[in-house]
Amino acid sequence: MARAKTVYCCSECGIEAPQWTGWCPGCGASGSLTPQRTAPEAAPDIGSRSRPRSLGTDHRTSDDPGLASTASAVPIVEVVAAGIDPVPTSIAEVDRVLGGGLVPGSVTLLGGEPGIGKSTLTLQLAAAWANQGRRCVYVSAEESAEQVASRAQRLGVTTPQIWLAAETSLPRLLQLVDQFGPDMLVVDSVQAVSHPEFTSTPGSLQQVRECTQVLVNEAKRDGLIVVMVGHVTKEGALAGPKVLEHLVDTVLGFEGERHHALRLLRATKHRFGGTHELGLFEMADAGLTEVPDPSSLFLADRHPAISGSVVAPVLDGQRPLLVEIQALVVPSQAPLPRRTAQGLDSGRVAQVLAVLERRANVPVSRSDVHVAVAGGVQVREPGADLAVALAVASSYTESPVRASLVACGEVGLGGELRQVPRTQHRLAEAARLGFARAIVPLSAPDPPDGHARRLHLDRQPSVSQALATAGLMVRGSRRMPAS
Ligand code: TYD
Ligand code: MG
Repeated sequence: MARAKTVYCCSECGIEAPQWTGWCPGCGASGSLTPQRTAPEAAPDIGSRSRPRSLGTDHRTSDDPGLASTASAVPIVEVVAAGIDPVPTSIAEVDRVLGGGLVPGSVTLLGGEPGIGKSTLTLQLAAAWANQGRRCVYVSAEESAEQVASRAQRLGVTTPQIWLAAETSLPRLLQLVDQFGPDMLVVDSVQAVSHPEFTSTPGSLQQVRECTQVLVNEAKRDGLIVVMVGHVTKEGALAGPKVLEHLVDTVLGFEGERHHALRLLRATKHRFGGTHELGLFEMADAGLTEVPDPSSLFLADRHPAISGSVVAPVLDGQRPLLVEIQALVVPSQAPLPRRTAQGLDSGRVAQVLAVLERRANVPVSRSDVHVAVAGGVQVREPGADLAVALAVASSYTESPVRASLVACGEVGLGGELRQVPRTQHRLAEAARLGFARAIVPLSAPDPPDGHARRLHLDRQPSVSQALATAGLMVRGSRRMPAS
């Protein structure tokens, strides 16, 4: 009889190595290999399972009888592409991220930190699905049926087309699929599901991966849509099983600040479309509500008469959003002045402050400077640099900028302004929201047709000239030298 043997499995990428090493031979992670016992007997008969990825396996000499036939290939132009029409979920923000909806036979993994709203979103998704006359089996592997039902009550879910089960056993979960024949299966969460016949420990990386593989096979065989919830670590990676991301068709991330109602949905992997769209929701008392016009939402509580407030059209994925950048500059009492950057990259803010100091004569090095994006939005691109510079100068000089002004551009280390991607789309969004003037770099293109008359472009070469045109000249400041 074959003996069980030990392999070493990487908790980051899932690769299996025959020997322990300090560094994973697959992804290079340090100390990530953990011992796993492999099963001596054949895999249980619960749908086809693919072999785990293993170092040093020669797949061409496999004894798989399926490989006995001759390999073949056809010219690519002769292959008729399989229809992969997505089915709309009827939640527009979800459909926007998925490029139209969920594709039959696909597996989608929804990741996010505990408490961010994954269970709420999947239940609303199931309800929206069932409300279209389709069938959904909702398996809760973490909460009791009563807990899910109480959430359903809170969300006003009344459709009888959702079959709910509190179940952690994979074979019983598959029985439910056979019994109810749903179009959609929701599993919350995949980390809590296990198969009694798999030899790996329930909850372990190997177990989660094997269970996921079975669900993937099930989806492919029957055209079933599977939506699985996955936990993420504090660092934001899908907990342990990075390898799950390779197994599934789509990986969605649900994010947000714990103390804000705003929730962002984005795809980090999508086999049926792009990963550039952003879906926006607000967590309210009766569940998640869609935010079709986020710019209006972000600017709703703005007080433009206060100094230190400047609006920037930023990009999240491909979606332009108007956000309010706020700054507060106060004389520092500490030997080392404090700098905070909420919703912005602190390194970029420090760079803009240094440029203001050296290139635009705004002396902030002895001041505490706090910069924030209002509304819980995270800005991770340089398009907001100029607005940060203007907001800091506005607070420093205690002079508000005009309410109808937006600023859009990257600030270079020489104090020069540089164009950022999709400037036209950003300007169109600013025009749509009624802004009348935009300070932009010299090379910025005109807004698209239809917006040009409403939005006047004020093209400036440098941050110091941008400050001057916005009426934020600091006493004694000078123009940027020509060279
Ligand atoms: P939940 O969906 O359970 O999060 P996850 O599955 O990601 O852990 O939702 C978590 C939070 O959302 C919870 O703290 C309560 C809040 N919430 C609302 O504010 N409104 C609602 O209608 C619901 C259902 C939850
Ligand atoms: Mg949950």
